[in-house]
Amino acid sequence: MYHPALKTPLCDMLGIEYPILQAGMGFVARGPLAGAVSAAGGLGCIGAGTMTPKELAAEIAIVRGMTDKPFAVDLLFATAGGKSAQMFSSDTQALIEVVFNEKVPVLVSGLGDPGPIVPECHAAGMKVLSLTGSTRNAVRLAASGVDAVIAQGYDGGGHTGSVGTMTLLPSVMDAVDIPVLAAGGLADGRGLAASLAFGAIGVWMGTRFIATPEAWGHDNYKNRIVEIGDSDTIRTKCFSGKPCRMISNDTTKAWETPEMQARLKPFPHQTRNVIEWLGADPYMAGRRDGQTDIGALAAGQSSALIHEVKPAGDIVRDIMAEATRALERLSGKAAMAR
Ligand SMILES: Cc1cc2nc3c(=O)[nH]c(=O)nc-3n(C[C@H](O)[C@H](O)[C@H](O)COP(=O)(O)O)c2cc1C
Repeated sequence: MYHPALKTPLCDMLGIEYPILQAGMGFVARGPLAGAVSAAGGLGCIGAGTMTPKELAAEIAIVRGMTDKPFAVDLLFATAGGKSAQMFSSDTQALIEVVFNEKVPVLVSGLGDPGPIVPECHAAGMKVLSLTGSTRNAVRLAASGVDAVIAQGYDGGGHTGSVGTMTLLPSVMDAVDIPVLAAGGLADGRGLAASLAFGAIGVWMGTRFIATPEAWGHDNYKNRIVEIGDSDTIRTKCFSGKPCRMISNDTTKAWETPEMQARLKPFPHQTRNVIEWLGADPYMAGRRDGQTDIGALAAGQSSALIHEVKPAGDIVRDIMAEATRALERLSGKAAMAR
């Protein structure tokens, strides 16, 4: 029996049992992971930003073959800053079409502002959540009509802003009047309980769900997350041109020198630049081939809290049980033991 405080408004909003969302992660979060998390009562999410429309449709079919519970798709809405939906790139437009055709229950924007399509999403019965790394951007997203924002702090894996989760979360909550979820540096039930204490309605966790059999990626990547501690990731521009938290390795170290910093190109041109320098695609080298010494391995500081690769459904249940213990401790119903 889980603590009643864990039944949050997010559960009603999305039609899920537990306020745990598995983050959309490029390459890593595909149908098998999203399906496992949703089947366990959380909300699984397909990280579709780098997929083709055909690939996305196939991953959605995998989720639907595993569960009839709600799930999400995460897209990147980078635009030229325009106000019309036509301003999204043709690749993004094609993915949006799949999301509508497939009647995906929840759309998440990992980057940019989905504002132009929010009314259409709502008319189709879809909920829209948006990631933000700053309070100013959260205000902009709230004005675009999204249903909730996900405040992702500096600690998180992948592209991050410069504000830590402990400050960003309450700051965003003070600035917007829509619900807020917490992300970045959260990997267990203590993080969920703390997020709810801040006033968040749920959590969005990425790195914790990489270390699962269901995540797409080489075992070396997953095992490296289990091995490393809190100082073994770095926020680097070396793979994409934008600050991105990755596992520190020979490639990230090489690009820290002043000479290499001078060679950095802006997003998205740095990707081609680093491929030419390395003589290989670092994303494939790391995630697909397991070359942890040179590859691009996004992971958060929360790697320090991850001690084993385990099934995604067990993670959801363990987080709920641990959050229950944490909340009972706070309300004096359990001994103060850790
Ligand atoms: C491997 C990896 C890939 C990611 N790719 C995306 C992405 O495509 N879209 C997105 O919205 N966020 C992406 N993120 C960020 C996550 O959505 C999430 O905000 C982050 O993982 C939260 O921090 P945590 O890793 O400490 O849980 C990625 C994160 C990781 C670790």
